[in-house]
Amino acid sequence: MAKKIILDLDTGVDDALALSYALASEELDVIGVTGTYGNVLLETGARNNLAILELFGRTDVPVYAGLPHASTRDGFEVLEISEFIHGKNGIGEAELPEPAGEVADGSAVDFLIDSVKQHGDDLVIVATGPMTNLAAAIRQDPGFADNAHIVIMGGALTVPGNVAPWAEANINQDPDAADELFRAARDVTMIGLDVTLQTLLTYEETAKWRELGTRGGDFLAVATDYYIKAYETTAPHLGGCGLHDPLAVAVAVDPSLVTCLDINMKVDTEGETRGRTIGNEERLNDPVKTAKVAVGVDVERFLNELMTRLTKLAESAK
Ligand code: BDR
Ligand code: CA
Repeated sequence: MAKKIILDLDTGVDDALALSYALASEELDVIGVTGTYGNVLLETGARNNLAILELFGRTDVPVYAGLPHASTRDGFEVLEISEFIHGKNGIGEAELPEPAGEVADGSAVDFLIDSVKQHGDDLVIVATGPMTNLAAAIRQDPGFADNAHIVIMGGALTVPGNVAPWAEANINQDPDAADELFRAARDVTMIGLDVTLQTLLTYEETAKWRELGTRGGDFLAVATDYYIKAYETTAPHLGGCGLHDPLAVAVAVDPSLVTCLDINMKVDTEGETRGRTIGNEERLNDPVKTAKVAVGVDVERFLNELMTRLTKLAESAK
């Protein structure tokens, strides 16, 4: 039986790749997409999710709106660097028709809580934006933290951050929420920069999508090329773009793609290092470890999986 999955996204080029990876995976049953702010405003992200689902013929998947900003803030504005990396529309200025579908009634947080109650161990939640919706679910329903299986893209344990020497972008948007998640949740896998910056895509791969001559191939190629171009400025030493968010979905399909360190984590919420993901010294001697932090990745196998799955999906959207 396919594993049920909910994606919590701030869509974003690599979030779009993550959603595409999930739609392309027979092992997964995408039961919903919940939206968050981050790379874009909440509304823009929801619009992108609806448009991508329509492109790939999956209007059956509901899109829920989550919280528009961190609980510690009054509002949210898109950072200049996010626009530079993902484009003003979040999907690398790729043009998709205005979606006919609408955001579903009800809150993303309620949907997350109800789905965990209903599906338990048959469900995985993959969060690739700020952890604001997940922290709200934990606060609203204490059972959520005990029963949810969560994979996040966020953080950096063995390498520096990408928005500050100590902080990764998703965690930095709402460090308090990420800290609550690590302290409360019983099963969190952290796919951070330690592994995602080892998995890169180049123009060579996106050319294969463009050559298909399909709407799906064009979309993936245009959006990802924009993202690769930004990486040429922000991280020229890498030689490609980081496949952050799709790696988190790939690990939800096949955990053997990464090797993990079992550890209890926390996030610094005070002082200069606010936003740093680090081991929780207060739970160092606790034999029960609630987080798995990916520190190694089978790059070749993941890239093969990504190209095979996304190319097939792109082919199908004529
Ligand atoms: C993360 O930040 C966002 O910009 C990306 O979509 C990814 O989720 C990488 O640090
Ligand atoms: Ca993201």
